[in-house]
Amino acid sequence: MQNGKHDIATRFSPTERVVLYPGDCADLLKDIPRESVKLVVTSPPYNIGKEYESRLDLETYLRQQKEVIRECARVLSPNGSICWQVGNFVDNGSIVPLDIALYPVFAEMGFKMRNRIVWHFEHGLHCSRRFSGRYETIVWFTKGEDFTFNLDPIRVPQKYPGKKHFKGPKAGQYSCNPLGKNPGDVWVIPNVKSNHVEKTDHPCQFPVELIERLVLSMTNVNDWVLDPFLGTGTSVIAAVRHGRRGVGAELVPKYVQLARRRIREAMDGTLRTRPMNQPVYDPAVAGNRLTIAPWLPPRPRSTSQLTLLEKERKVLRYALR
Ligand SMILES: C[S@@+](CC[C@H](N)C(=O)[O-])C[C@H]1O[C@@H](n2cnc3c(N)ncnc32)[C@H](O)[C@@H]1O
Repeated sequence: MQNGKHDIATRFSPTERVVLYPGDCADLLKDIPRESVKLVVTSPPYNIGKEYESRLDLETYLRQQKEVIRECARVLSPNGSICWQVGNFVDNGSIVPLDIALYPVFAEMGFKMRNRIVWHFEHGLHCSRRFSGRYETIVWFTKGEDFTFNLDPIRVPQKYPGKKHFKGPKAGQYSCNPLGKNPGDVWVIPNVKSNHVEKTDHPCQFPVELIERLVLSMTNVNDWVLDPFLGTGTSVIAAVRHGRRGVGAELVPKYVQLARRRIREAMDGTLRTRPMNQPVYDPAVAGNRLTIAPWLPPRPRSTSQLTLLEKERKVLRYALR
């Protein structure tokens, strides 16, 4: 601690608030006492040959993941949660969804699965021999039946807030929760690509808002949030922004540096992030001219409300000419 302000520590101690361990998560985990962390949230290396990972066969990869998960289970508090965010392992064009491959690892350790959250986004590789992947999953497990889940801080706007009960004793009263509705288990949140406000040089950053939803619902103020594969520091940033304690490990020095800068900015309140619940940008609604196909004739005003199907049919007609 310096001048009454907490600093970013490099070794774990229960008295710290923010810890960034520059090294292997196995070494960090050894320092964390059992049952002291409320939420473990991470996206582990996916074994798809990113610059920071060496490609392993699936069996070796799963064995390594199991070791980390076992240690995470040891440090997790009895009412805590583990959220493992994964995509697909790709082997010569054939895919293995990693959540399916990892499920038995969690189940064997006695974890109970609470949700398999589908995170849908719009940007990614364009495949030519299968449908382009536009979702990944977050598998949420708890140690026991008694676990923290705060719904109110993460409610989203109701679809029909003005709807009322039309019969019965509550007739005439608003029928929905004025605080909003449960966000459900399909989350549409832009991934951090190209001109996303949070973009850094890291190839697969979490958007802060994705982790904020987990932190707010699964932890309380002052609880510890742990990310063993911290990358650019997002999980610790989400923790810091909501008065939680954050700890993570990152192996690659340039990402450690990036994470340190971003966490520092989050602590100072200067880090720019995409706000939670901001509607996804729709270029057509925003009036972006690039959404108008130049090979189509100018549209008369009255057709500007064409349905998606009609638009597709029109494009096809021109393409087939
Ligand atoms: C999928 S990325 C995580 C990105 C992160 N979610 C973010 O928001 O930036 C996985 C990260 O784990 C790091 N890593 C790989 N093996 C590690 C290990 N054994 N210990 C700590 N970090 C590791 C990689 O360098 C990479 O930055």
